[in-house]
Amino acid sequence: MPVTVLGISGSLRKDSYNSAALRAAAELAPEGLTVQTTGIGDLPLYNDDVRQSGYPAPVQALRDAVKQADGLLIVTPEYNYSISGVLKNAIDWVSRPPEQPFDGKPVAIMSVSPGIFGGARAQYHLRQMFVYLNGDVLNRPEVMIGTCASKFDKEGRLTDETTRDFVRKLLQALQARIEQRR
Ligand code: FNR
Repeated sequence: MPVTVLGISGSLRKDSYNSAALRAAAELAPEGLTVQTTGIGDLPLYNDDVRQSGYPAPVQALRDAVKQADGLLIVTPEYNYSISGVLKNAIDWVSRPPEQPFDGKPVAIMSVSPGIFGGARAQYHLRQMFVYLNGDVLNRPEVMIGTCASKFDKEGRLTDETTRDFVRKLLQALQARIEQRR
């Protein structure tokens, strides 16, 4: 059965490597899996007073999209050894009552950085968040794309074959996990 995965990049930058990796994932998806991407740049900063008076429209739209997706693909940059503030803000908004749509959701994670660790430290922070949220995060393959400038061309296409293969394998694993849970 076809599955739909919601793809989120944690960078708002126009020429973002993380967004480029997300685009590559959409192209490399196995048959039967579609990656639909959504932006998180229009969300207001989290404020619990606002939440209690009703979710703003862009927040509600993201909550609905997460709920409806069969799985998630989150691509995070590393900012000061953690995830970006905009990604944390989006996760915080989606995680609040009355529903918690990350609960039991299959989640695949990638990170991209110009540094040699490929955003590993951010990725582990993200994984830690999903312990609390009870997301069903894939442990393997770990896709941490380091020294990223050498792996994308000037148009932002992922050209490194080894990395392309890792991305393919991650999406195959996500598809298998989604099918297992059905
Ligand atoms: C960074 N960058 C960075 N890189 C890294 O490997 N570890 C880090 O801790 C940080 N910290 C950091 C903090 C802040 C505030 C910025 C703006 C940047 C560099 C970062 O990985 C680089 O700018 C990436 O290109 C960001 O990802 P996108 O925007 O290309 O997807």
